[in-house]
Amino acid sequence: MGSASDLTKSRRLVDDTTMDTFFTDAYRDLPAEEIERYHRTVFLNMDSPAAERLRNEYYRTVLRRMGDGVRIGRGVTIINPERISLGDNVVISDDCTLIARSERGITLGSGARLMHRVYLDTEGADGFIEIGERVYIGTACLLHGHKGLVIGADSLLAQNITITPYSHIFEDPDKPIIAQGGHTRMVTIGRDCYLGMSVTVLYSADIGDGAVIGSGAVVVKPVPPYSVAVGVPAKVIRSRGRQVGGPASREG
Ligand SMILES: CC(C)(COP(=O)(O)OP(=O)(O)OC[C@H]1O[C@@H](n2cnc3c(N)ncnc32)[C@H](O)[C@@H]1OP(=O)(O)O)[C@@H](O)C(=O)NCCC(=O)NCCS
Repeated sequence: MGSASDLTKSRRLVDDTTMDTFFTDAYRDLPAEEIERYHRTVFLNMDSPAAERLRNEYYRTVLRRMGDGVRIGRGVTIINPERISLGDNVVISDDCTLIARSERGITLGSGARLMHRVYLDTEGADGFIEIGERVYIGTACLLHGHKGLVIGADSLLAQNITITPYSHIFEDPDKPIIAQGGHTRMVTIGRDCYLGMSVTVLYSADIGDGAVIGSGAVVVKPVPPYSVAVGVPAKVIRSRGRQVGGPASREG
């Protein structure tokens, strides 16, 4: 809470019409490109139906593909939109970040939903992130795609999950770890998986179709289809009442 004198001071600013003209004055002599950036900043961050409509019009011109019925919240950061494809009815909630550093970029299938503050980063030039149809990604998930991250249709990721397919090499004690490179590979999360809150998936793991991972687990090696795994490191405690490998081997 500001003090009474702070309040008076800010009222005085408005009374003097300083704020009424501040932005127009400040931007009057800027190059056209900067003025355009200013306008874009306003509607990309504004919380109103009109701003959401403008956002949609704008993103439609810059994204690689944008389906119908897409909703993009305010405060979303999109780096290299020309490498990002969104299917129909995709939802990108407020304050998400999508960074498509690689040509293959980021693909969100129809009906995919990113909740608040989800962060997607393809990382290197070979990286990509492909999120299947109707996938739900919970608040504050942090997903990287150094050599590729694929999440199958209908999977559900609860909040605060980290998937980073990279682990630094540290064997040489005479060389900084940061200069030793790392292990990385494509990571696949199957269809119809359920990852509980705060799960961590390392580069060495894949998760089979229909698998369930308990909250807080650290997944370090592949989890078979239709199994339930919990703990650190994650261990399979049971299957979902089907033969492991059975339904997963079917097509579709
Ligand atoms: C794993 C989970 C799905 C339950 O699976 P389940 O097969 O029904 O497991 P149970 O509750 O029968 O527990 C089986 C054993 O696993 C243990 N366990 C359950 N969840 C665990 C977890 N997240 N981490 C570690 N151990 C867990 C239980 O303590 C029990 O151990 P015990 O046999 O030694 O007593 C559930 O516990 C879970 O983590 N759900 C995710 C919840 C969540 O993230 N919600 C976010 C909003 S969607």
